[in-house]
Amino acid sequence: MIPSVFIDEQECIMSLIAMHSPNGIELDPMFYKGNFYKKIDRPRLIFDINPQHDYVEKADAANLPIDNNSIDCMILDPPFMFGNHGKTKEYYSSKTHGIFDTFDDLEKLYKSILVESYRILKDNGILFFKCQDYTDNKTTLTHCFVWEWSRDIGFYAKDLAILHLPKNKIYNSGLQQRHTRKVHSYFFVLQRRRK
Ligand SMILES: C[S@@+](CC[C@H](N)C(=O)[O-])C[C@H]1O[C@@H](n2cnc3c(N)ncnc32)[C@H](O)[C@@H]1O
Repeated sequence: MIPSVFIDEQECIMSLIAMHSPNGIELDPMFYKGNFYKKIDRPRLIFDINPQHDYVEKADAANLPIDNNSIDCMILDPPFMFGNHGKTKEYYSSKTHGIFDTFDDLEKLYKSILVESYRILKDNGILFFKCQDYTDNKTTLTHCFVWEWSRDIGFYAKDLAILHLPKNKIYNSGLQQRHTRKVHSYFFVLQRRRK
């Protein structure tokens, strides 16, 4: 029995691969340090706009050097924080994972990488999309937007897994807590549907 909630990221991704793309992940255009691939085979195509290793090619996930309708399965893990003010950078190690100045900037990037994924995936191809809701001084349910934007572009949300990692949460202990601390992230399984 494969559950919908996981406490281990490797287990989560391995289970999604087993169910939705048994041949594995072919492309990761937001590779960062490759933390997804501790137990999982590294994809044959890896890129990042700011590569951390010399074996990672520099490319924009919104404009990839990949042919139309040529990929069976890919994964996206974009930055999820926004509102670059005060000491946000300092508190949230934002320089390593990236942070958007505004939600509009997040929306622009997310829509553009979804459109690009739609272009390069084969019909019925699978996109694993990791995202997280975000509370700064207000709550944004980012995963709801991802569902809406992906659906508008032509994806079907075939599945959704939740990763619960309470110990990993980064937060500013100097601030009074006013919202629940977001200790979970989402892995959408988006299937490209022919329009
Ligand atoms: C959250 S990290 C990915 C972490 C990665 N999954 C891991 O586990 O190691 C987001 C990555 O996306 C990259 N990135 C941000 N915007 C990008 C873009 N337009 N194209 C490609 N990569 C981008 C950042 O440089 C960063 O390395």
